[in-house]
Amino acid sequence: MILDILSANLTTVLIFVIAFLLVWRTLRRPAGNLPPGPWPLPIFGNLLSLGGADSRKSLEALREKYGDVYTLYIGKHPSVYVHGYENVKEVLVTRGDDFVDRPQSLKLVQEAEGKGILFTSGKVWQEQRRFSIQALKDFGFGKHDLQVKIQEEVEVLVNRISDLQGQPFDLHDLIHISVSNVICSVVFGTRFEHDDNEFKTYVDMLDENFRLTETAILGLLIPFSYLLPGDLFHMKRLEENKHILKSFITNLIQAHKESFDPNNRRDFIDAYMREARERQQHDPETTLSEDQLGAVISDLFAAGTESTSTVIRWAALLMLKYPDVQGRVRREIDSVVGGRLPSLADRQHLPFTEATMMEVLRYTDIAMAGHATVRDLTFHGYNIPKGTTVMPCFHCALHDRNYWKHPDIFNPDRFLDDWGHFRKPESFIPFSAGRRVCLGESLARMELYLFFSAILQRFELRLPDGAGEPDLTPVIGITRMPKRFEMIAKLRH
Ligand code: HEM
Repeated sequence: MILDILSANLTTVLIFVIAFLLVWRTLRRPAGNLPPGPWPLPIFGNLLSLGGADSRKSLEALREKYGDVYTLYIGKHPSVYVHGYENVKEVLVTRGDDFVDRPQSLKLVQEAEGKGILFTSGKVWQEQRRFSIQALKDFGFGKHDLQVKIQEEVEVLVNRISDLQGQPFDLHDLIHISVSNVICSVVFGTRFEHDDNEFKTYVDMLDENFRLTETAILGLLIPFSYLLPGDLFHMKRLEENKHILKSFITNLIQAHKESFDPNNRRDFIDAYMREARERQQHDPETTLSEDQLGAVISDLFAAGTESTSTVIRWAALLMLKYPDVQGRVRREIDSVVGGRLPSLADRQHLPFTEATMMEVLRYTDIAMAGHATVRDLTFHGYNIPKGTTVMPCFHCALHDRNYWKHPDIFNPDRFLDDWGHFRKPESFIPFSAGRRVCLGESLARMELYLFFSAILQRFELRLPDGAGEPDLTPVIGITRMPKRFEMIAKLRH
């Protein structure tokens, strides 16, 4: 009797589930003919197809199965993934105008509320980006003035490391503060001491948010996940951090307002406030405003700190993994620079050092960025509606076998020509390309070179006794970060 009831109920449940999936299947059929891809599950879409910690392998497997262009559903939203350098270039450069927007379905984009640079589209994005590039140039981007600011931070960092007297340490916090200070000098006109606990808290929160965002996005896909106990998906923690970081920036803007002098532009904030006031008098449509300023600063602070410090930590880890490369870099610096700090003028004479840093960028390919179509369009024979997310796969461009020999091997020599000169292959696009190319590329390149070369010049990096092999498995957040690790920095002469 009980078995009869159970089996009747099971049959009902089964019929219900099949009916639900059929309805779902019909509903999920996209309006146009999007590229093929695995069948999306209710609620989660194809999240499971993205695999575990490292989605790169899963994406490669999907490419094998569906070709260079395929669709994955993130929750209920379709994302078109584009592989292969030529195709990525088509999205970013050749047809860049068609794919220049940010996807509205992205939680980070919704939260930005149409403010700032990173997550905006259209007129707001254009005006904020254009003004920021100009103002940052005025304050030293790409110029040698900025070298002085970076070298000041390099000097502080190497002294802090040398104070540790060869004790094992984690580079994470030190490099985070140093790199963050560079962007603070340009944007806020101020730097913070490494012992400033308040500033350290802000930088830690930023770092935490980069790590937690992925989990929080997963939480958003699960109905009523916010009711689960213990902030399982870190959504509350993320919100709290954002709130505190916002007030840090609001206070800095307020302090600038109180001492504002239109004839004395001390930093980016002053330049923005002056320009916004001038434009508002002549152009009622302008998007420059104090409200936008906070979001722009927050974007520069976040993007300017996290990615650069992440790449420098990867560089240190790879130097531990490949001591022969570390030795070659050091010998080159010793022979060209001698005992003083390496400068930008030395860079062209340090091809192997430059090649090693670029190989770190290529090999670790830390970034991924979502674009969106600005109109209904056809791409590789598929109809893609306006506003669809398109993911140009930087990883595939940086590891494309048609362009890179043995791409999964760490080999700085690939950036040198037959005469030992540095050369940059066309498909090297760690900062993206086209209209949305990273706004801080020139600053980041300077920082990577100056920090990396100074650290290797001053110290020999080693693993602590019994530490085992360096673990290159990434931690996936907004960027691909190395796991926390300790090393010993032995001071050289
Ligand atoms: C090694 C360091 C860095 C890497 C690998 C990197 C990489 C990237 C990538 C891949 C994008 C996405 C571009 C796209 O959507 O196609 C981006 C955007 C951006 N980056 Fe960087 N970046 C780095 C450092 C910096 C720095 C130091 C700044 C500071 C100013 C910065 C500011 C930005 C901004 C504001 C955007 C948004 C551009 C836009 O949406 O128009 N980045 N970056």
